[in-house]
Amino acid sequence: MAIKYVEKKGRVFVPTKKARELSLAGQDVYKKAAANRVKFWEELAREGIDWIEPWHTAYEQKGLKFGWFKGGKLNLCYNAVDRHLDRPDKTAIVFVPEDPQEQVLRVSYFELFKQVNKAAALLKQKGVKKGDVVAVYMPMIPEALVFMLACARIGAIHSVVFSAFSPDALRTRIKDGGAKVLITTNYYYRKGKKINLLKQANKACRFIKIKKLIVDRKKVGKTFEKMHDVIVKPESMESEDTAFLLYTSGTTGKPKGVMHAVGGYTTQAYWSCRYVFNLQENETMWCTADVGWITGHTYACYGPLLNGATTVIYEGLPNYPKPDRYLKIIEKEEVNVFYTAPTALRMFALAGTEYTRKYKMDSLKILGSVGEPIDEATWMWFYKNIGKNRCPVIDTYWQTETGSAVIMSLPGIGPFIPTYAAIPFPGMDFDVINEKGKKVPAGKEGLLIQRPPFSPSLIRGVWKNEKRYKNYFDKNGDYTAGDGAIKNAKGWFRILGRSDDIIKVAGHRMSTAEIEDAIASLRGVVEAVIVGREDKLRGMVPVAFVKAKAGLSEEDVIARVVKRIGPIAKPAEVYFVEDIPKTRSGKMMRRILKTLLAGEDVKNVSTLINPGSVKAIGEMIKDRAKRKARCGEDWEMILEREKSNGKEK
Ligand code: WTA
Repeated sequence: MAIKYVEKKGRVFVPTKKARELSLAGQDVYKKAAANRVKFWEELAREGIDWIEPWHTAYEQKGLKFGWFKGGKLNLCYNAVDRHLDRPDKTAIVFVPEDPQEQVLRVSYFELFKQVNKAAALLKQKGVKKGDVVAVYMPMIPEALVFMLACARIGAIHSVVFSAFSPDALRTRIKDGGAKVLITTNYYYRKGKKINLLKQANKACRFIKIKKLIVDRKKVGKTFEKMHDVIVKPESMESEDTAFLLYTSGTTGKPKGVMHAVGGYTTQAYWSCRYVFNLQENETMWCTADVGWITGHTYACYGPLLNGATTVIYEGLPNYPKPDRYLKIIEKEEVNVFYTAPTALRMFALAGTEYTRKYKMDSLKILGSVGEPIDEATWMWFYKNIGKNRCPVIDTYWQTETGSAVIMSLPGIGPFIPTYAAIPFPGMDFDVINEKGKKVPAGKEGLLIQRPPFSPSLIRGVWKNEKRYKNYFDKNGDYTAGDGAIKNAKGWFRILGRSDDIIKVAGHRMSTAEIEDAIASLRGVVEAVIVGREDKLRGMVPVAFVKAKAGLSEEDVIARVVKRIGPIAKPAEVYFVEDIPKTRSGKMMRRILKTLLAGEDVKNVSTLINPGSVKAIGEMIKDRAKRKARCGEDWEMILEREKSNGKEK
C-alpha cells in the first residue's frame, strides 16, 4: 500500500502522523533556527558538508558585501562525488534519452567519479585553471553534469548557457564571462528531431578566441572510455571563492552573471534538498528543469548528488512521444520526488486524466513546483492526478540569485496551501514592505525582501558589474527580490509575481528590455515595447508593440527575437502601432498597455502626450482577441472543472 503523507484539514493540507515521523528537518527546526540563525547554519554546514579546513568566522558583512564560513576550505565536487565512494555501485545519475527505444543509462557514483576526474584532466589539458570561466552549452545528458562537476573539482567557474538560447545569446554570455573554453555537443534530440547544437555553437564562436570541447551525443556515457583512469586532486577552495556563474535576465537589455560562493552554495544546496524534499540517500529525485537554469543546477545536479541520492535527467520533452511519457519515467525509475514547473503541469493537464489514471506511481512521496506562481486549479490537479491525494505539493519560491529554494512548506511539517509558498526556510528572514521601505500590514500586497544575515547561497556579486549587484539592495540594506508578495496574519507568504520588467514565460526568466533591444535592432523599427500578458498555459507571454516604418512583418519581428535570444522569447503577438502611449516626459506607459491587454478600459489618459494612441491600440487588441476567441477553450474547461471539484470536497 502506498503511504499517505498528507490529509486535508479545513482548507489546508497537513502532514499525516507517518509523514511527521519521517521528517528529516524535525518539528522543532524553525525554533532551533530562530534561536540563533548564524549558529543554526554553522551547525548545518558542519554536519552536512566535508570541509578541508574549518572556518573562523561563520558570517561576516561589511556594507552590502557578506560572506559565510570565512576561512573555511572545501570542494563542491568532492562533496557531491568522492565522499559517496563508500557506496560505489549506487546509481548517481539515470539518463533517460528522448527516444524510448534508446537505452536508459545508469551512472554509478564510482563511474561518475572516474568520468569527472577524466573530464577534469581534459580541462587541465586545455589550460583551464582555478578561477577560469568555462562555458557549458549542453543538452540534458550526463556529460553536462560531469563537466560541471569537473569544473568544480579544479576550481574553474562554469557558466552554463541553456541549449535553446540562440548563438547570439551564447556569444554575449561567453564574451561577458571571458570564457576560456566552451563545452558543447554535436546534437541532441527534441520532439524526435535531431537538433544540431554544434552548428549553433560554431556560429556563436565566430570571431571569438575560445577552445572547444565537443561531446559526441552518439557516444553518450562513453565519452571518456578511451582515456586512462586519472585522479585529479580536488582543489582546496576558499568558502567565498566563486563556485559558478549563471547568466540571468535583469531589467536592462544585458543579462547578468550571477555569482555564487562555494561554501554557502554547497551548504544550502545540500540542506535545502534534504529538508525541502526530505531526500535520502536511497531515493530518486527527478527535477525536470534543464541544467541551463538555476533549478537544474541545484536540484537536478548538485542537490541530489551532495545528498548521495539518485538524480534522473531526461533529454527531451516530457510528453514525447505520448502525453504519458513522464508518468512512465516516474513509474519505471521509481521516482520519489518529482519536481517540475506549473507550465509543464498545465500542459499535462490538457491531456486529461485518461493517462494519469493508468499509473499508480506509488513510489512518489513529494511533489514540487517552481518557477512561477502555481494557481489553485493546477495545484489541485497535481495533487490529485499525480500525487493521488497522498503527496504534498511543495510550492518552492526562489531565484537564480538565491541559489536554492527559500520559501516553502517543509514536508512532514506543512501546512500545504494552494497558492501559498508559505514559510521561509529555517534560518531566513523575509518580509513584505512598501515602496517607501516600510512594513505593510498583514494581508496587504507589497514587495518581498530578505533581511540579513542573508541566506548562505544568496548571490555574492554580478560578474564584472558591482553596480548591478548593489541594485539588489534597498536603502535599509535588505535584499530586494523583485517580486510582489502578501504575508498573511499567520506569516505565510503568497508570491504574486515580478514587480519589475522581468517576465516568466513558461517558467523561463526573460527580460522585456532584452527582447525590446532585439526588436529595436531591426532596420525600420522606431520603437518597441514588450509587455507581459497573462496566459493560461505559459503563465505569461511577451507581447510586442512596435512602431516601425512600413514593410516590416510580424514574422520579421519574431525572427529577430529568435536570432538574438532564442525561440523561448518569441512574442506571442506583435502589434504594429502608430504611436506608443507616452507621458509628457517621454516615458512609455507599459501599465496602460498591460491594462489594454487584459481587456480592460483605460480611464485616465490626461497625463499622456498622445492619448489617441490608447484608443487605437485598444481596438487592435480587441479585434485580435475576437479572432482568437476560440483558442484556449480546453484549458478553460479544465480550470472550471477543477474549481468545482475542489469545492465539492
Ligand atoms: C518566480 C527560478 C511564484 C519569481 C528558481 C522569481 C516563483 C523568479 C516561484 C526567479 C514560486 C520562482 N512562486 N513565483 N514558487 N518560483 N518564481 O531566476 O518571480 O529563473 O523572482 O529562478 O521566478 O526565476 P529564476
